[in-house]
Amino acid sequence: MEHLDNVTILDHPLIQHKISMLRDKNTGTNEFRTLVSEIAMLEAYDALRDLPMEEKEVETPIEKTMAPFIAGKKMAIVPILRAGLGMVDGVLKLVPTAKVGHIGLFRDPETHEPQEYYCKLPKPIELRTILVVDPMLATGGSGSAALNFIKQHGGKKIKFMCIIAAPEGVRRIHEEHPDVQLYVGHVDRCLNEDAYICPGLGDAGDRIFGTK
Ligand code: PRP
Ligand code: URA
Repeated sequence: MEHLDNVTILDHPLIQHKISMLRDKNTGTNEFRTLVSEIAMLEAYDALRDLPMEEKEVETPIEKTMAPFIAGKKMAIVPILRAGLGMVDGVLKLVPTAKVGHIGLFRDPETHEPQEYYCKLPKPIELRTILVVDPMLATGGSGSAALNFIKQHGGKKIKFMCIIAAPEGVRRIHEEHPDVQLYVGHVDRCLNEDAYICPGLGDAGDRIFGTK
């Protein structure tokens, strides 16, 4: 798809290989969960490369020196329930001090519009770098609603990380949230009539939690 300023495609071979394994319908729940977590960790490594740093003094066995550390403890990971939950522990492995908020949304099967059922964000949300995570960005309805909600609560510095996206969803986030940096593992071909991503991987929530 076309180049968009606030969109980064994370095309590292390790990420692409693991996404291909996710797509396989014969990949079982346990392996699927592990892969989602590993992909989230690999994606976050790149998506968080601009985290603010500060110098602090440390004493090596040789001498005292100033050394860079991630500034403060001001990050929030916000999974979109349910499927986003599968990405949280992968990011927490890299940033164990991050706080975790939750936004509950599901797509109405008829209208495909997101319905909100839960929201709890760590305070002070306006001071945190916020990493919203959801494996699938299809129409972009859920992602856009989640970003609106976080902004209404004062969130300012927001990144959105997903694993597979449809071009429609990427364009929607680009248009409705040009201030949000979007990180995508792979942009697929299109949506089908049920608003599922093609070729995609099916229903991410069901595959992570073994429902259906
Ligand atoms: C999936 C997915 C996204 C949403 C993407 O969630 O995890 O949140 O669909 O679709 P959209 O871009 O068209 O909004 P779903 O609604 O299936 O809920 P679940 O995670 O609880 O299964
Ligand atoms: N949600 C999913 O889990 N998969 C899709 O393909 C689209 C939305």
